[in-house]
Amino acid sequence: MSIIKPPATRSDSAFLDALFASEVADQGFVSRHTSVLSLNAEVYEAWEELSAAVHRSMGTRRYELVTLAAAGAIGSTHCRLAHGRKSLAVFGREQLVRIARDYHSAGLDEAEVAMMEFAERVSTDSASMTDLDSEGLRALGLSDPEIVDVALAAAARNFYSRAVQALAVEVDPVDIDEELRAALLQGLPDHRLYREPLDRAHRHALRWLDSVPTRRVAPELDADALDERLAGGLPEGPTDAAAVVDELASICEPGLMGIGSGRFFGWVMGGVLPAALAADWLVGAWDQNAAMRFATPATAAVEGVAGRWILELLGLPASAAVGFTTGGTVANFVGLAAGRQSVLDDAGWDLALHGLSGSPRITVLVGDERHGSIDLALRYLGLGTPTVVPSDDQGRILVEELARALAGIDGPAIVCLQAGNLHSGAFDPMREAIHLAHSHGAWVHVDGAFGLWAAASPLYRGALDGIEGADSWATDAHKTLNVPYDCGVAVVARPELLQAAFGLHTSYIIQGEHAVMDPFEKVPEMSRRARELPVWAALRSLGRSGAVALVEGLAANARALAAGMLALPDVEVLNTVAFTQVCLSFGSDERTRRVAERVMAEGAVWMSGSRWQDREVLRISVSNWSTDEADVAAAVSAVERALAAEPATTAG
Ligand SMILES: Cc1ncc(COP(=O)(O)O)c(C=O)c1O
Repeated sequence: MSIIKPPATRSDSAFLDALFASEVADQGFVSRHTSVLSLNAEVYEAWEELSAAVHRSMGTRRYELVTLAAAGAIGSTHCRLAHGRKSLAVFGREQLVRIARDYHSAGLDEAEVAMMEFAERVSTDSASMTDLDSEGLRALGLSDPEIVDVALAAAARNFYSRAVQALAVEVDPVDIDEELRAALLQGLPDHRLYREPLDRAHRHALRWLDSVPTRRVAPELDADALDERLAGGLPEGPTDAAAVVDELASICEPGLMGIGSGRFFGWVMGGVLPAALAADWLVGAWDQNAAMRFATPATAAVEGVAGRWILELLGLPASAAVGFTTGGTVANFVGLAAGRQSVLDDAGWDLALHGLSGSPRITVLVGDERHGSIDLALRYLGLGTPTVVPSDDQGRILVEELARALAGIDGPAIVCLQAGNLHSGAFDPMREAIHLAHSHGAWVHVDGAFGLWAAASPLYRGALDGIEGADSWATDAHKTLNVPYDCGVAVVARPELLQAAFGLHTSYIIQGEHAVMDPFEKVPEMSRRARELPVWAALRSLGRSGAVALVEGLAANARALAAGMLALPDVEVLNTVAFTQVCLSFGSDERTRRVAERVMAEGAVWMSGSRWQDREVLRISVSNWSTDEADVAAAVSAVERALAAEPATTAG
């Protein structure tokens, strides 16, 4: 509803009296937009003179075409309807419907089409126009004064339409038939429906993001308190969308963890790059169901490119298939599903037909410091509990132990390696382990949830030497690549195995003749959001050099943190800092636990307590692109304060 109360239709101005009378004579009432804008009678009179001058100079046909195009580009319901009606005096109704739907194929001449395109650009992107744009009109026979008129008519429409939009003036019923009305409004953004809630979300998002660099990292309220704030049954009736957004923001904000902060070092959770976040907003607005190339070609194409860029950056085989999942857990599931398919194929077992009942037993070998998500994925796949192979003091699988374990296996086998240990950051010895596993006919899957990204850097690539020889790889984009949650990446060397595991043929799935796989054939979900778009945006904004700098910057900050912490009294760094992870001990387990709790309770920085190699640790993970020297210093100070508050003498 307009913020302006429409005035009475009579006024003290002779000009307005005449204007109102002419509208009443023409359409039976005074339009709301006329009565609202005529609150400034002098300006309205000037507007009438201005628009009449342009109109006179161009002639009605051109004036109306340019006005319709500009009003469409601005998204002005008022002006599209009002000038749609006026245009009936110039065009036949049928042609007008066609012009409204798509003026490119409505029987207009080339110059008219070009004028309308020009008017659209004026209304959406005038700053980027150059004389090449007017040159196009000149080439179609328009004189310079005529070109100026097109620009003036479009710009004048912007003046009027935008003022009407800005004042949220209600739309009057316009006397045109339904088909023409629908054609005129087709494709116009419905500001009333989406603009307000999106504006609110935008404002809340920016307020949050602006506060992140300086705010406390830890949430102010815990989950129980949040449960209480959200208590209450399902509301009986509807609530305005914008109010819902406000309510959500105000309830949630005290319970938000500052994961995007440069001072957040918890678990292995990445921050969010600006381009990736903005792309993620488009994912929601575009609302593409990213399953099929036929249905959502743009997202499928972006998926292809993002996948190729990842393979190139990480030095993995260019012919591998890349699927986008919710995270590392499901990416592990995908790689292991391909492995299960492959080793059972090799054993002559038809998995699709018979399932696992009665199948040859698959032995899965894992290092004793594999991530728990491997166990989860194996459980989902019906492969049960894995056989554990001992690892060294950094959590790297011991190749001689792997050899011993493989030697004892008869039948299908899968070996899970790890690129990036959660506590030490260490990488399993890839080349040797992969060679060994392959010599036993085993499938090799690499869990590189965060550590696989080290392969992008010439400094770290050596630590992953031979990794390209594995059969499947899992990683996360929401960790090291810093796209918003959620996004994992599954890579499988032999795409046909994924098709066998996840492909489906039903009557309603329309697949092209081409050899390119559909996105749904590479992951367990069918319908899903286009989470590859933020990945594309992150890589596009970083470029190769930016991606390498990101990876190397995280690792450098981890080293700086370790050095800073080591300079504090009684601090031990338990791991060799191989990548982004640092594990600290402060003497006894009891003191380490207390210091960790104190750091978390203070909340200025966030690090999580954990247990590693039979000792309590305070674990640091540097996973945020924005972490800088000041954040590193803040982290060291936070630990220093906690250490001072928990003197060693109180240790148990
Ligand atoms: C080595 C490793 N693998 C797998 C995962 C699981 O990834 P997600 O939480 O994205 O499912 C993690 C998470 O931290 C991890 O560090």
